[in-house]
Amino acid sequence: MADLNPASIPLSLYIHMPWCVRKCPYCDFNSHAVPDGKLSLDLEQEYLQALVEDLKIQVNFAQGRHIHSVFIGGGTPSLISAKGYQWLFSQLKSLIPFEDGCEITLEANPGTVEHDPFAGYLDAGINRLSIGVQSFNTDHLKKLGRIHSNADAVNAIHLAKEAGFARVNVDLMHGLPEQTLEQALYDLKLAVENGATHVSWYQLTIEPNTVFFRTQPILPVDDVLEEIQAQGEAYLTAQGFVNYEVSAWRKEKPSAHNLNYWQFGDYLAIGAGAHGKVTQPDGVYRFQKTRLPKDYLAKVPAEHVQFKRIEADDMPFEFMMNALRLNQGVDAKLYAERTGVSLAGLDELLSSLRTRKLMVDDQTRISCTEQGHVFLNSVLEEFL
Ligand SMILES: C[S@@+](CC[C@H](N)C(=O)[O-])C[C@H]1O[C@@H](n2cnc3c(N)ncnc32)[C@H](O)[C@@H]1O
Ligand code: SF4
Repeated sequence: MADLNPASIPLSLYIHMPWCVRKCPYCDFNSHAVPDGKLSLDLEQEYLQALVEDLKIQVNFAQGRHIHSVFIGGGTPSLISAKGYQWLFSQLKSLIPFEDGCEITLEANPGTVEHDPFAGYLDAGINRLSIGVQSFNTDHLKKLGRIHSNADAVNAIHLAKEAGFARVNVDLMHGLPEQTLEQALYDLKLAVENGATHVSWYQLTIEPNTVFFRTQPILPVDDVLEEIQAQGEAYLTAQGFVNYEVSAWRKEKPSAHNLNYWQFGDYLAIGAGAHGKVTQPDGVYRFQKTRLPKDYLAKVPAEHVQFKRIEADDMPFEFMMNALRLNQGVDAKLYAERTGVSLAGLDELLSSLRTRKLMVDDQTRISCTEQGHVFLNSVLEEFL
């Protein structure tokens, strides 16, 4: 592997907040129901302190870089108070400064917005919200075990805009139990008409270790799923949204944080179960923190981390599974810069994919064609 230059690679920060009011039956994220549906101030403070200690052991990974973007995901990060975030950011910035204009996104659940007004989050420095709506349909919200009504979801978007958030992402899922085409399109319509500036539109997947895996709800048949996908895409496009990644639609700037993941950038990660990726002069490493909040809090930071070096043989797949998710792909130069491996080793495969019209016929880019995106999983398998 050639020498790597971390200084040329943007460095983001992921912060994981592992608690939710209750666990949704489809969710396999590292999220845990909080006792009595409320996070005590003591636990909030203990966890925030642990996050700061966690970043302390990662300062060296920065190699002099500042933080390019921050994403606070969960779980339900809107269970943490605005005051808590204000304190947290001041501590984190004293360890590694944030770049000017650093994008800071917070995932918010419409069922927790009365907990802390959005204006407080804006004052704390959060400048982008990602609201987990999932659906605006009352029956679907019930089936999904959500803690909010459709009115709460609409209200949350309006409260965010009124508080001064210019950038509001709405998370929606489709292919919900017994969902019709009309219902799926209606969900998109409500997100757009209520002012979402970005929509993350995911097809529901049934994950092992979830209630849905055991109960196997009845999902729409393939023909309906295909129609939802096609008509949903047409609708969002007609509304001026640009699809820049498999599930991401934007009417404004792309998410700087997610873009950095997909461009194989670096990210520090703090919090229970958080995953990070860092480039050092001698290689690229992934790491993961202890998953259970109580174990994470009980251990000293150096004990709750597992490292794995990404070997040169694994680089093609590791890089492509991120870069090829982007509709425009990436500049071909990024491959060597971010993996330390020459792109020449992939010449034959890239040329074959270009001949088969699965990748764009342009040597300066690594990008799938429309056809390549339809068969993305098969394309990726070729890099294994
Ligand atoms: C980490 S979750 C956090 C969002 C927030 N906790 C909430 O639910 O309000 C991020 C997003 O992933 C999506 N998601 C979660 N489980 C999914 C599944 N099984 N299939 C598809 N999308 C899923 C949902 O849209 C969710 O908003
Ligand atoms: S609120 Fe979000 S993170 Fe929590 S269980 Fe539901 S989907 Fe998962």
